Amino acid sequence: MFKYSKAAAIALAVCFPLVSQSASAEEPIEPITVKPVEDAAMVELGKKLYFDPRLSKSGFISCNSCHNLSMGGTDNLKTSIGHNWQQGPINSPTVLNSSLNLAQFWDGRAMNLQEQAGGPIANPGEMASTHALALKVLQSIPEYVSEYKAVFNTDKIDIDGVTKAIAAFEETLVTPNSPFDKWLKGDKKALTAQELAGYELFKDSGCTACHNGAAAGGNTFEKMGVVEPYQTKNAAEGRAAVTKDEADRFYFKVPTLRNVELTYPYFHDGEAATLTDAVDVMGRIQLGRSFTDEENASIVAFLKSLTGEQPTFAMPILPPSNDSTPKPQPFD
Ligand code: HEC
Ligand code: HEC
Repeated sequence: MFKYSKAAAIALAVCFPLVSQSASAEEPIEPITVKPVEDAAMVELGKKLYFDPRLSKSGFISCNSCHNLSMGGTDNLKTSIGHNWQQGPINSPTVLNSSLNLAQFWDGRAMNLQEQAGGPIANPGEMASTHALALKVLQSIPEYVSEYKAVFNTDKIDIDGVTKAIAAFEETLVTPNSPFDKWLKGDKKALTAQELAGYELFKDSGCTACHNGAAAGGNTFEKMGVVEPYQTKNAAEGRAAVTKDEADRFYFKVPTLRNVELTYPYFHDGEAATLTDAVDVMGRIQLGRSFTDEENASIVAFLKSLTGEQPTFAMPILPPSNDSTPKPQPFD
């Protein structure tokens, strides 16, 4: 017999009705939908800012350094590398589909993408600039000033507009039309027999209690280690760091499983190197279930069917600095 904690029991109670209905149209995971772009000029500005390393003190680190859009919106490192080669405290989550998250960061300490975007610029362990310095850099570049004016109707660049533009760009980073989404929309040939078996097992074992909705995650904070404690040397406390409630210790935002094939290594500490490892750990410590190699392989095959169309666009060409632009300080 498996022993379930109260949280898992609730999670499973939520899940089983969905499982029993799965023959009908109700699936716990929905297709990704693409929203129309509201303000194309703002998105273009945000794209430039996302790729501009001059928002960092070194002039070398951009958002794309740690959320590389050529690599699933991550850095594929256990934990990120920040200013002066500092070792980051936690794994960098993907920015792809991040607009679907209930909140941002592993512990949800930022309410939304705009609030999040101000953080890394001024974080001494990440881009190590200050908002004042980053704004001075942008304000010194006439092309940025005129582009900003076209979007926000003012000559004065401020952090509110900068983060708003970055967030508008991030909202476009969604990944529709994965094989799984095609299957959900009725193309029954879009999944192989193994991927489909993996999806059934994913549902029947209770994974969808936490990984559900369009992002297959991102909707709740859940305990890491429901059935068995998770062993890690990482110091992150999870949601308790925000709520100061001991009961929230080790609750993390459930990560999206969209594009999870691309976003290795896994977990907040980056300690699971492969999907096989991550699925094995999830089965054991969240659900009290040991998968056979064959079961594990089919769940991994299903997870890989969640890889969608990656955002594609022309590399933004950034306007050059000039004599009045504050100089980069890479080694201070
Ligand atoms: C030095 C590496 C680094 C840089 C540079 C960086 N980030 Fe991050 N980012 C991270 C890490 C690490 C986290 C997770 C931190 C946490 O949860 O405590 C994160 C979290 C996020 C999240 C939350 C995603 C989620 O699922 O919770 C978003 C969105 C994001 N970053 C966007 C940005 C943007 C926009 C920039 C540029 C302004 C940026 N990042 C710069 C490393 C970086
Ligand atoms: C009780 C809620 C819960 C259940 C049930 C659950 N997960 Fe998770 N899952 C999480 C949380 C929370 C994390 C992040 C934990 C961390 O990083 O500390 C996670 C992380 C993952 C990751 C790593 C994603 C990444 O980007 O780091 C994978 C893969 C995953 N789960 C797959 C599964 C599978 C497969 C199942 C079923 C066998 C499952 N999960 C069941 C809550 C759950």
